[in-house]
Parts: sequence; structure tokens; C-alpha cells
Amino acid sequence: MWSSIDKTVVEELSSIVGEDQVVFGVGRVEGYLLDETPLPIRPEPCRDVVVVKPASTEEVSAILRLAYRSKIPVFPRGGGTGLVGGCIPTRSGIILCLERMNKVTVDVDNMMAEAEAGATLHDLIEAADRSDLFFPPHPGDEYAQIGGLIACNAGGARAVRTGVMRNYVRGIEAVLPTGDVLRLGGKLIKDNTGYDLMQLIIGSEGTLAIITKAFIRLYPKLPFSITMIIPFDSRSAALKTVPRILRTGIMPLAVEYVERIPIEVSAARLGLEWPCKEGEAFLIIILAEQDEEYLYRVCEKLLDVCVESGSLEPLVAERRDEQDRILRIRSEIYTALKPSMVDILDVTVPPASIGLLMDKIDEISRSYNTYLPAYGHAGDGNIHVHIMREEGWDTAIYDEIRDKVYSVTLELGGVITGEHGIGFVRRRSLLRFSHPIYIDLMKKVKQIFDPNNILNPDKLLP
Ligand code: LAC
Ligand code: ZN
Repeated sequence: MWSSIDKTVVEELSSIVGEDQVVFGVGRVEGYLLDETPLPIRPEPCRDVVVVKPASTEEVSAILRLAYRSKIPVFPRGGGTGLVGGCIPTRSGIILCLERMNKVTVDVDNMMAEAEAGATLHDLIEAADRSDLFFPPHPGDEYAQIGGLIACNAGGARAVRTGVMRNYVRGIEAVLPTGDVLRLGGKLIKDNTGYDLMQLIIGSEGTLAIITKAFIRLYPKLPFSITMIIPFDSRSAALKTVPRILRTGIMPLAVEYVERIPIEVSAARLGLEWPCKEGEAFLIIILAEQDEEYLYRVCEKLLDVCVESGSLEPLVAERRDEQDRILRIRSEIYTALKPSMVDILDVTVPPASIGLLMDKIDEISRSYNTYLPAYGHAGDGNIHVHIMREEGWDTAIYDEIRDKVYSVTLELGGVITGEHGIGFVRRRSLLRFSHPIYIDLMKKVKQIFDPNNILNPDKLLP
């Protein structure tokens, strides 16, 4: 059995990346073992690991060649912002930390960024900004890294208008478990050369290849924005309004749905106040446009639609700091609920069915006499349902509730995850709620890419 203290492996790794880029030993690896998964469902990390920090694709390739030959598990690690244990080492092995590969350059004429895997979302946003361009989606925490964002096909609040990570990636460089380097796509808008292996690797959660670099499409800036909170008396009134807005041709940057209790908990934790005293259900709508006059026209039209749909008095924020404050309260709901949470789900249904789904979730919470706070990306049909800790409950009850939420989601034509992925914690549910032929094909694909099962084992597929 290979162990992190196997001297020859450590020596070989050191000769690839340099001695000071190899970290091992209890106490020293602690910072590389976790992600943002809620504690009750987070897998216990294996501490018998070596952290290796390559600086180039060649070094990644040499590390994988060694791992492949010696059948050593490799756990790729980005910013550690995942919610399903996707980067947590579950066996003795190598943690491949890509933080040193953090260059971003921008090709202004092709409107394309070339980003290394360890660059953060923040780095990408800044690099685009310096070139007077814009990266439209905002797939989560800005300390998330490009490699992880692509490997997990991250979504975020702006997907309603902009799509998710895979809609922006036009090329990748990836290292296969054998150490071979694969270059797919490029600074291209069109590419029809056979099977789209790039899209297969995007979203594969580090189980097929290590993404080392990507070409990412950029767009012109949208310098003018308005953030609105539209309060409603009831959930159904709020959610009914979303398809009405989208049907007018208005394309908000974000349409988020929140309810009073969770949003007030989040505001309180930040020492802030939720600015709407009226209403129980809220849409947070962000509009962003290139032209200021057009922005105001769209805003007016949107407010008309909301009022016609029965909204209460909307709050319109134009100042940057006001807009940021609203977004911050929304973004921190997860963190605010985390201490008393067992799990955060990210079920996704056809957008128009979101109200039905939430009503069914309420039925489930009533039947268990618990509260399942839910909010989410209303324009995408993607809802975060939180299973909260209850005195005296064991894992079996939490599992039962989760399965019930998944069942009603599937009945509505949905999927168990639209955003956070499978990682470690959703594998059982993936098996239970997917067709066996689909699972079988995925296993075969994994086998082709990674016959020795060294890349992120115990993730995605059991
Ligand atoms: C959110 C994260 C939890 O939407 O996906 O806040
Ligand atoms: Zn989300």
C-alpha cells in the first residue's frame, strides 16, 4: 500500500516540482483537505496525502505519469469552494494543487481570455476588466479557480442570461491520467471536429483529466446596472412573474428568488437589514446593459410587468454600494444557514415548474414537521433546498427527506443537481435516480480515460 511517507515517491515528486512545492505530514496538509460541504455530510478526509504544487503543464504531466505508473490516486484541488466534497481526498494519494498556475492573458481582438487552471475567478474578472472586456457569468465564489469552475461546470446567479461555465469555454488543455497532454478547441467560435470531448471533460469533476488551461470567451462590458427587489405577498405570485418577465424579451442578468426568513437570517449575520418591510416572497432582479437609456426603458417595462403580476412596492437600487449590499445578503444565505444545516440541495426543474416544486417541498416539510428553507436561481428553475438539523433525528430521516425532494423533482422532469454536481456526497443519489444505461455508459467512459482509476477516485461514480 502506497503511503505519503513513501520516500521514493516524495523524492520523485520533489524532483519534478522542487522540494518546497511538496507538502506532507500531519498538521501541514490540513489546509488542503476540506471544501465548503456542510459538516454533517462532508466525508472524513484521508490525511495520509502529499500536496504537490506544479508550475506548468509539463510538471502536471510528469506528476500524472508517475501516479499512473505507481497507481497512486490524484485529487485535483482548486479553490476548495465546492459543496459536494468533490476535492476532498478520500484515500491516501496526491493532492494536485494548481494555485501556482495562475496566469491570465487577454486577446482583445478575439475577445478571448487564456487562463491557467489556478487563476481565480477574481483574476479572470480583473484581467477582462483591464482589457475593457467582461466575463458575463458569475459562477460563485470569486476565490474559486478556473480549473475547478470548468471541471464542475459552475453556474451561479447570472446563468439565466449568460448560461453556465461550459457556454464560455472555447478551448482547453488537459492532462490525461497517463500524462499525455490533450489540446481541444481553441480561440474558436465554431468547432465541429467530431465528438465534443472538451464538453465531456467540462463537468467531469476531475475524474477524466486535469484541466491546466482554458480559452474563455469574453464580451463587451455592461457598464450600467440596476438591482431591484420585488416583494410579493405569496410565493406563487412571485414565481408566476418570472416567465412573464422573460416572455417580454427582457433579459435580466439575474432573477433570484428568496423568502423572508432565510434572507433576514443572512442580513442579520452580516449586521445588515433586509430593506423590504413588506412581502414574504421576493425576486431580486439585476439588469445590466451597455446603454443607460435602454437600461431605464427596460427597467420601466419590467416594473410594469411586476405590478401587473401583483407585486408590492419595488425597491430599486442604483448606487453601486446599495446594489452590492443586496447581492451580498443573497450570496451569504448559505453561510448563514450552514451552522444548523445538514445538506444543501440544488435540484433543478423546467423553470415554469419551480412554484410547483416548492409547494411540494413545503408538503414534505409539513409531513416531517421541519423547515426546509429554499431559495434559488428562479430564472433557471434551480432551487437550493436546505435540510436543517433536527433534535433526535438520524441519518436515515435526512436521507428519506432528500430522496423525497429528489423524487418530486424527477416527477416534474427535473434533475437532482443543476449546479453543485455529484462529487462524493451525491453518488448514492445519482445511482438511485439515474437510468442504469446512463450509469453504465459513464463507467465505460471513465474506464477509457482512466483505466487505473487514479483521477479523483470515489467521486462522481461509486
Ligand atoms: C448559492 C450557492 C449555494 O446559490 O449555489 O448561493
Ligand atoms: Zn446556487
